[in-house]
Amino acid sequence: MRRGIIALAAAGLLAVTGLTACGGDDGDNGGSSSKKPKIGVILPDSKSSARWETADRKYLEAAFKAAGVDYDIQNAQNDKNAFQTIADQMLTSGVTALMIVNLDSGTGKAVLDKAKNQGVPTIDYDRLTLNGSASYYVSFDNVAVGKLQGEGLVKCLTAGGKTKPVVAELNGSPTDNNATLFKQGYDGVLKPKFDSGEFVKGPDQSVPEWDNAQAATIFEQMFTSTGGKIDGVLAANDGLGNAAVTVLKKNNLNGKVPVTGQDATVQGLQNVLLGDQCMTVYKAIKKEADAAAALAIGLAKGEKKDTGQKVRDPEGNRDVPAVLLEPQSITKENVKAVIDDGFATKAEVCTGAVAAKCTEAGI
Ligand code: BGC
Repeated sequence: MRRGIIALAAAGLLAVTGLTACGGDDGDNGGSSSKKPKIGVILPDSKSSARWETADRKYLEAAFKAAGVDYDIQNAQNDKNAFQTIADQMLTSGVTALMIVNLDSGTGKAVLDKAKNQGVPTIDYDRLTLNGSASYYVSFDNVAVGKLQGEGLVKCLTAGGKTKPVVAELNGSPTDNNATLFKQGYDGVLKPKFDSGEFVKGPDQSVPEWDNAQAATIFEQMFTSTGGKIDGVLAANDGLGNAAVTVLKKNNLNGKVPVTGQDATVQGLQNVLLGDQCMTVYKAIKKEADAAAALAIGLAKGEKKDTGQKVRDPEGNRDVPAVLLEPQSITKENVKAVIDDGFATKAEVCTGAVAAKCTEAGI
């Protein structure tokens, strides 16, 4: 009897020791070094912005290939159930690090917490999951992105010379923390102008899930409800901006009403060169992907690097180790910089009527 107890206790001890050794998760999300490194990435969709499939996937893939690590990059196509299913499949397949772009904080948190419970470290890529548990957050300074949009619109409106211009706002998805940060940035620039009476605040609406088609409907309604009296549009990305441009075109107002954007998509750059869009924001996604890939590769191998930066998760009340990159404002004058950086090619941007504009812009 006594012997039995001792044997059981010893077995228990062994089991515990064994768990610690192979689980590798001692609370710091250190990852497991005993498994073959494999990185899972879940992208959000392919419609809210061209970037996810044309830039992020490409650059992440290149970084993983260069490092010779196994990877699996999938796109949830804006489906929250699919997002969870992909995460489950990746965890079952034995990924040793998981990177996500959440569709909202709730879905993101469920996935991050599940991974954590299985000892798999995680990265919030581009969007911070509020109250989440990611080991790192890699993104841009998103308040700075919004500030560039606000300043860009002010510049275009001032150049247009209209007094007391009415400014409409087409914000990003209310469930994307980035949309909140962008708005914080541009409202910081616009609000003082509204308060002083220099500008007039027009309709201000969020676009659910950054849906470009819905954005056109929303902007159409804004346009109708104001009797067409909109003089400038703060659109949070190129897709939303293009939706506004489409409506303005129908009313022969494109090029007369400045519209902002973000992502330096081919369409956005073309709209800028044609004069239909006042500016876009270039985020060097190669840098973002490279930084995230380097951290993920480290995590997948059981290493944790110091990023030297952190952001506060206001809902989880914790500091998340972060990499935050600087965005750049792009107008007609410097579209060339985006092409020189290799983010877009002259062949894809300078087509049709845009070709002559490219020549004018020195591209
Ligand atoms: C990203 C933007 C993108 C938007 C829609 C945001 O979280 O930061 O680059 O345009 O989502 O996909």
